[in-house]
Amino acid sequence: MEQSGQKETLKKSVAGWKKSGLSIGFVPTMGALHEGHLDLVREAKKNCDRVVVSIFVNPLQFNNAQDLLHYPRRPEEDAKMLSAEGADFLYLPEASSFYEEPAVMNLDFGTAGKWLEGAMRPGHFSGVGVVVSRLFHLVQPDYAYFGAKDLQQVAVVKTLVRDLEFPVTIVRCPTRREPSGLAMSSRNLRLSEKGRATAARLYEALKIAMALGAEKAEEALEAGRNHLQQFPEIELEYMEWVDADSMQNRNEGKIPPEKAAICLAAKVEGIRLIDNIIWGE
Ligand code: PAJ
Repeated sequence: MEQSGQKETLKKSVAGWKKSGLSIGFVPTMGALHEGHLDLVREAKKNCDRVVVSIFVNPLQFNNAQDLLHYPRRPEEDAKMLSAEGADFLYLPEASSFYEEPAVMNLDFGTAGKWLEGAMRPGHFSGVGVVVSRLFHLVQPDYAYFGAKDLQQVAVVKTLVRDLEFPVTIVRCPTRREPSGLAMSSRNLRLSEKGRATAARLYEALKIAMALGAEKAEEALEAGRNHLQQFPEIELEYMEWVDADSMQNRNEGKIPPEKAAICLAAKVEGIRLIDNIIWGE
């Protein structure tokens, strides 16, 4: 596996592959990799001739300085895991070389980016949009792989690709979970063992709500929220029905079941976690 933090080195490899007519799959990440990230790499390996993975803790998308400071970083372990999966190129730039000039643009993704994470983390999706655009220009992928774990991010990235006509197909991959049901996340490294057990209740609540169905939207959310209220260590921020593709608010229950999803965000031990459940998945 090639590894570099230099844009020029990455561009050279990409140009060589393009010249040989090879397809490129891309998995953007912020590192501290787990099986959820590796699933994306495996999916990319299945469909593409070459696979590029980026690891970059993008300061632009952090609205909380403490979260950025404490975001886990383990580049050596990550590189070993990626090499074992057969990734072809690991791009891991420093912030200073990635943003030679500070980025100043603000991107607005319309309804998809306005509520839930968009409302709780002002500027977050704009930062995601800028970094993903820049990475797409560098890597020039045919396919880019994103996790359903960040469902709203998938909608935002699809909006970006559609509005700016990036020549890339976005592939959404299922959320990988611990045996307890807890969605894998780099931020889980910051939870104690007890915290991780508590956090597994989030998926329980999502399953309880989804079992009642989108036709009983309010009742379903109430059942999910009631479940979480039993656990004072969980601080629920939001739990809402959405259209899984457009991320429109679907609390009124006017959503065809196959497009319904429920998203939530909550804090456990002061760590902010997000999760969701998609109908039929
Ligand atoms: P990060 O949180 O590192 O996630 C990288 C990719 O892995 C995202 O597409 C995310 O949805 C996916 N992922 C995370 N946990 C997952 C899980 N349990 N199952 C399946 N997929 C999972 O998301 C980001 O980084 C950044 O916003 C990024 C897109 C890299 C832009 O900076």
